Amino acid sequence: MTSAFLAACRGEKPDHVPVWFMRQAGRSLPEYRKLREGVPMLESCTRPEMVVEITMQPVRRYGVDAAIFYSDIVVPLKAIGVDLDIVPGTGPVVAKPIRTVKDVEKQLRDLEPGDVSYVTESVRGLVGELGDTPLIGFAGAPFTLASYLIEGGPSRDHRLTKELMYRDPATWDALLGRLGRIAAAFLRVQVDAGAKAVQLFDSWAGSLSREDYVRYVKPHSTAVLDAVADLDVPRIHFGVGTGELLAEMGDAGADVVGVDWRVDLADGISRVGKDRAVQGNLDPTVLFAPEEIVKAKADAVLEAGRKARGHVFNLGHGVLPATDPDALKRLVDHVHSFEVL
Ligand code: CP3
Repeated sequence: MTSAFLAACRGEKPDHVPVWFMRQAGRSLPEYRKLREGVPMLESCTRPEMVVEITMQPVRRYGVDAAIFYSDIVVPLKAIGVDLDIVPGTGPVVAKPIRTVKDVEKQLRDLEPGDVSYVTESVRGLVGELGDTPLIGFAGAPFTLASYLIEGGPSRDHRLTKELMYRDPATWDALLGRLGRIAAAFLRVQVDAGAKAVQLFDSWAGSLSREDYVRYVKPHSTAVLDAVADLDVPRIHFGVGTGELLAEMGDAGADVVGVDWRVDLADGISRVGKDRAVQGNLDPTVLFAPEEIVKAKADAVLEAGRKARGHVFNLGHGVLPATDPDALKRLVDHVHSFEVL
């Protein structure tokens, strides 16, 4: 059976509109919270049995058309020895922020598959369990990874990141070049083990103007997407607040461009163009609205999606922790009932 998800990514006609959710694994699921009790986030990513179970939970519960690998964008950085942790309620925190070429050389090296053997083992286990449902592998894009490493943790304005970008382009390129190689290697490990698509998350790229994105960031994201082109799996590229960057993110080498909810999907489709599929873009907070409103808003997204080369239904960003799993289940059923013309 051809996967509806893979067909939509490739611009072929699926028999139904495929749907999955960013952050479907984790967060809002009680069975996830129970399993994670007492196990730190980064440790959970190194335990294949746990990774398989957490990745499978939303597939079983919702009947989504794809699974997203349970891990984090900082896992490959931790694996090469960067001193970082994920602090509950805060996010990734880096002990010694990277701000000079010396820091880059001292703290970052290329990623070897052996550094993340637990990822290989987890993906292999998953592929066996998933059957016909494809697994999406992922990595953080160079800009988003750099922002955590430079700031030392999450940031609202990415001030230190941009300061380094403008002041010291040589260090910037050394850092993003290295992070690009790490991201590409992390994607390759997942596809070699059986992932059927990849998503490159440039979650915070939306903080950049188009001009700066093109000059300082796009070449490095292009390098990552180019480096996995030979694997012949769909490449999805996504960021938050990237309405002004959609054409450029597609041009960086994506087969599918993720669109957040601030952009009308019809506009997103015309910005992305006829050569690429789109993914998105229901506002994650709409799931807190009455059922009729969820359906109406989902229908608007589905209708707009008909004009795309291919449309993968998703939220405009990750599932919020307080989301009712039953609301997600109803949404999946609703998307699946939408007629493909
Ligand atoms: O939130 C959960 O689902 C619980 C598990 C968890 C993940 N990451 C899984 C994850 C936790 C606690 C983290 C920490 C973390 N890492 C945060 C959240 C901080 C918090 O407390 O809310 C953040 C923002 C990061 C950094 C990060 N990780 C980014 C920017 C991304 C890209 C996706 C995005 O949301 O923009 C990730 C990827 C990620 N973290 C995934 C998972 C399961 C994979 C992508 C997905 O499931 O869609």
